[in-house]
Amino acid sequence: MSARAKHFGSTIILTMMALILCLTAGCRNKSSVVVLRLAHTLDTKHPVHAALEHMAAELEKASNGKMRIDIYPGGQLGSERETIELLQLGAIDMVKTSTSPLEGFVPGMAVFGIPYVFRDQDHFWNVLNGKVGKQLLELGVNKKLRGLCYYDAGSRSFYTKDRPINSPADLKGLKIRVQNSSTSIKMIQAMGGAATPIAFGELYTALDQGVVDGAENNPPSFLTSRHYEVCKYYSLDEHTMVPDVLLISTETWNRLTEEQRGWLQAAADASVKFERELWNQKTQDALDQLAANGVKIIHQDKQPFRDAVKELQDSFEGTEAGRWMEAVLEQK
Ligand code: GCU
Repeated sequence: MSARAKHFGSTIILTMMALILCLTAGCRNKSSVVVLRLAHTLDTKHPVHAALEHMAAELEKASNGKMRIDIYPGGQLGSERETIELLQLGAIDMVKTSTSPLEGFVPGMAVFGIPYVFRDQDHFWNVLNGKVGKQLLELGVNKKLRGLCYYDAGSRSFYTKDRPINSPADLKGLKIRVQNSSTSIKMIQAMGGAATPIAFGELYTALDQGVVDGAENNPPSFLTSRHYEVCKYYSLDEHTMVPDVLLISTETWNRLTEEQRGWLQAAADASVKFERELWNQKTQDALDQLAANGVKIIHQDKQPFRDAVKELQDSFEGTEAGRWMEAVLEQK
């Protein structure tokens, strides 16, 4: 099928889905319970899913059962890009997405995809909890996308089928799946690989069938997606720290009362704390389980990877993401 026909097909599917979801939206307020529909692409065993469940439970408790969140995991309602579009159409209420596909809607979010922009986990959280993080959450409001909070999504590293990535030179000739994000594409190109954007839900098959030779992600996602069944090398260059973000449609947000917004924001904040406490443990558990399943974990020298993307980092100067990058680098 041509790319055009494929695009046409997916537009029709998206429109139909939006229609069905809008038609059923009437059920949301039955017996005066406000039901919020939340979509994401991760597996139910993923720590971020656990955090979303925690939020749903907190909200139900705080509102005394007057508010509820129905979670649609595993990409049931579409890819991250598609669900962000559904959010803009007002067909669903909330989406948990990586900030990478979000940069197509909110360009400033590209700052999180710039490799090695964070020094460590403390720097990352100081940015997210500080002025920059808060401003970035608000940045999508004029696109109908309001950010409620961030979740830790650790560091992303390469996993491959046939050979390990010990240095950027090993990426030569390899097709590497990336998220739907131009910053990710540029990063792989700068390192010498061929970037192939594919939706997360289609990646297992793409790896299995050899459409791509590898991908990159954090340990819990590599484990819970079962991509390790196909990829036996995990090379920890930790090139990016791309957070997950929870979005709510501004239409939904504007419909809520002050009190309901307060309950929801408090539940989201509680889920962030919950997830942060879980993340490092789940990352270590994932690495142990991956190794137990025959994955070779490689701790290589990161400097050649940093060197390979130096020019790319400089190329952001003068762009919106570049201005955010300066603010990130200034953060203690
Ligand atoms: C991470 C992130 C997901 C995203 C995935 C991807 O796992 O948490 O939201 O879908 O990366 O690579 O697509």
